[in-house]
Amino acid sequence: MGRKLASRRRRSGSTDVSRRDFFKTVGASSVAATVVTGARAELDAQAPVLGPSEVAITLTINGQRHQLKVEPRVTLLDAMRTRLDITGQKRVCDRGSCGACTVIIDGRTYYACSMLAIDAQGKNVRTVEGLSTGNTLHPVQQAFCDHDALMCGFCTPGFVMATVALLEKTPSPTIEQAKRALDGNVCRCGTNIGVLAAALRTKGVSRG
Ligand code: FES
Ligand code: FES
Repeated sequence: MGRKLASRRRRSGSTDVSRRDFFKTVGASSVAATVVTGARAELDAQAPVLGPSEVAITLTINGQRHQLKVEPRVTLLDAMRTRLDITGQKRVCDRGSCGACTVIIDGRTYYACSMLAIDAQGKNVRTVEGLSTGNTLHPVQQAFCDHDALMCGFCTPGFVMATVALLEKTPSPTIEQAKRALDGNVCRCGTNIGVLAAALRTKGVSRG
């Protein structure tokens, strides 16, 4: 009996506390929301308004600086392909789901179709054009040829860049590491086995 009463009291007590906590939380959230809204308004007031007309930007791609003007809505992929004639990375889905546009930025892979060109300023963007030295292919490019890792070639530059990024961090990856690094890229021609073989057997990529 005593235990039952104690139990009921605890439940009843916990309901009261919850209600108080609820009102406290709502009050605190409202205050926090007001503070955040105020801070955001202040930031918006300080931030320069860009666009919709073109703005001057500077991109560093494969070690070369390019000055150009683009509307702020232009993606890095479109800026490279349509303004700078750097067409190695392909536009296939244009919505961040196939990996054909994969570039390396400051050591990490990104979908160039899903990044604004203005946001790539001040960063080191690398594309497939920057890999070979004269007529000598980069070891990853050579491995793709050796392991029959391409057919139509549309996905290939993206796969190559994803593989380079992997090997610059992990020169001897396990099959699981290679699969994980390449799982953001899709090949409609079915070259995945060749790509995986290239990723696992390429030697001589220096750490990035
Ligand atoms: S074109 Fe960018 S992910 Fe497909
Ligand atoms: S080689 Fe054709 S899509 Fe991959």
